[in-house]
Amino acid sequence: MPVTTRTILNLDQYLDGIRERVQAHLEEMLPTTSELAPELIEAIRYSVLAPGKRLRPILAYATCEALRGDAHLALTPGCALELIHAYSLIHDDLPSMDDDDLRRGRATCHRAFGEATAILAGDALQPMAFELIAQAPGIAVDARIAMIATVAKAVGPHGMVGGQSLDLSSEGKQLTAARLEVLHRAKTGQLLRASVQVGALASGRADASALASLDRYGAALGLAFQVVDDILDVTGDVAVIGKTPGADQKAGKNTYPTLLTLDGARRKAEALLEQALEALEAFGPDAERLRKLAHFVVERDR
Ligand code: IPE
Ligand code: IPE
Ligand code: MG
Ligand code: MG
Ligand code: MG
Repeated sequence: MPVTTRTILNLDQYLDGIRERVQAHLEEMLPTTSELAPELIEAIRYSVLAPGKRLRPILAYATCEALRGDAHLALTPGCALELIHAYSLIHDDLPSMDDDDLRRGRATCHRAFGEATAILAGDALQPMAFELIAQAPGIAVDARIAMIATVAKAVGPHGMVGGQSLDLSSEGKQLTAARLEVLHRAKTGQLLRASVQVGALASGRADASALASLDRYGAALGLAFQVVDDILDVTGDVAVIGKTPGADQKAGKNTYPTLLTLDGARRKAEALLEQALEALEAFGPDAERLRKLAHFVVERDR
């Protein structure tokens, strides 16, 4: 359904609708078995199809829609973002990284399938994601190339992986506020920011000024997301967040609640929400879903 001022659906309904489409798409595109490595495929399906919020594909979809593009075109690249995200979670949970046992309410991949299979499942998901974007139907070749470059940059050594490395090397050391912001923008913010850019590219309708505004939105939302993730590690309920609370403190992680107290972290998230909303000012009613998504990111309990 196109976005008009009169057809703003309830956000939960909207999110559930996209989630169902993403889930169906993922089910369909993931292999069901492999002559070479059936257990690898099982581990991939186990992790990817587990109940996640699907925020990255949702952001791509809603951004494409805000630009009055055909949002259906954002589904395949959106699923690619979800594959990259799933890989990052599998590796993040490994004993050599955060050493977690619970993810999305289930045993982590390495707990269920062993460490070698978990590492390889993460490895396999990365090329699968880029293959999906390269072959995304209905999207111009130059837009697909731009998506590949955007996502690759976002998750590489100057983005997600660099951030993960800084996160691990800073355990037990107190980072400054500026440095923690750099860390969080890299490890989590960059992929969310890229998700917005991918949605804009899928629309084929973003000019340089729209892209720049959306990028400011994505950057603010991306940082806010990790601030709230840190808060939920302190205040979240295991049955709701599907991961073990208190893991950050146990590992000596640098987080916003530790740096600023819980109230200070909440204020930071609120300030970032304001920044995200400001970035959308020029868009009018078309960006209403993106505004609601920013509220969701800051106000969520999971
Ligand atoms: C968790 O991401 C990891 C971070 C980047 C903070 P999500 O909270 O989006 O995880 P799922 O996909 O909903 O499980
Ligand atoms: C992980 O951050 C960010 C990734 C790139 C996966 P966290 O380590 O805080 O994520 P959770 O809390 O385990 O989901
Ligand atoms: Mg981590
Ligand atoms: Mg972790
Ligand atoms: Mg966390």
